[in-house]
Amino acid sequence: MRDLNEITITDEVVGAVAGGSNDRIRRISQALIRHLHNFVREVEPSQKEWEQGIDFLTQTGQMCSDVRQEFILLSDALGVSMLVDTINHRHPDGATETTVFGPFFVEDRQEFALGANISEGVPGVPLFVSGTVKDIAGSPIEGATVDSWHSDDEGFYDVQKGHDLAMRGRFNTDAGGRFWFWTVRPKFYPIPNDGPVGKMLEAQGRHPFRPEHVHFMIAAPDQETLVTHVFIDGDPYLDTDVVFGVKNSLVTGYRSCTPGIAPDGKNVDLPYLVLDYDFVLSPEKIP
Ligand code: BEZ
Ligand code: FE
Repeated sequence: MRDLNEITITDEVVGAVAGGSNDRIRRISQALIRHLHNFVREVEPSQKEWEQGIDFLTQTGQMCSDVRQEFILLSDALGVSMLVDTINHRHPDGATETTVFGPFFVEDRQEFALGANISEGVPGVPLFVSGTVKDIAGSPIEGATVDSWHSDDEGFYDVQKGHDLAMRGRFNTDAGGRFWFWTVRPKFYPIPNDGPVGKMLEAQGRHPFRPEHVHFMIAAPDQETLVTHVFIDGDPYLDTDVVFGVKNSLVTGYRSCTPGIAPDGKNVDLPYLVLDYDFVLSPEKIP
């Protein structure tokens, strides 16, 4: 193990981890070393660039806190989160496609009755959200838990504004697998870009925006929990989502409605929008 050169060093390091405690650790360590070495050979960083790279990763770690996960944001902005998501959700045809989870989910969210307004007092265009949850055979799932969360009409989540929780809630589907609730129309928004990931995007000549969307997490017994969004057709960022999360099957349009009787029988005195989307869950994988 002496006189290693630019090429021979790789096999030497790969060999050094051959005694890893299990096959998986060995495989991951060896692939990591091979790819990292090839990356360095391709890029040939100067000593200064290497130090800048270390500094970037250090700042990324330092930016992390209870309410900020800059490493996940980095993974999102480099398309790694979507790659991991795609590899882990090779679902049967017909099942709703998945997309990134994002940092704005809150464990401690409120459970609402069907038809409730989850954004009472929040300014914005009234939005009626409805849909069904079915299994892959087409049977409605009663009692599925439907979590939804989204931004306000300026592109901010409640947790970013530091006020009470809003624009998020949990529902249970009825006997027909249906759910429905009122909220306000969200907007496209930038991912948190006041840290190293924001600086990286700027240096890469990229904008920080995600297209308008509503998040869903849907869980039911014997089904794989679905984490996804519904995107809105016509958004200017659909084709350049900073986290690469858009899938055609998840894009739909609002139906514009004039004041009057809404689909839930409520009399609405303002123009409002309807977002209707039917979800299909995948059966839980048996390990
Ligand atoms: C979101 O949609 O909430 C999100 C996803 C990835 C990074 C930042 C935000
Ligand atoms: Fe989001």
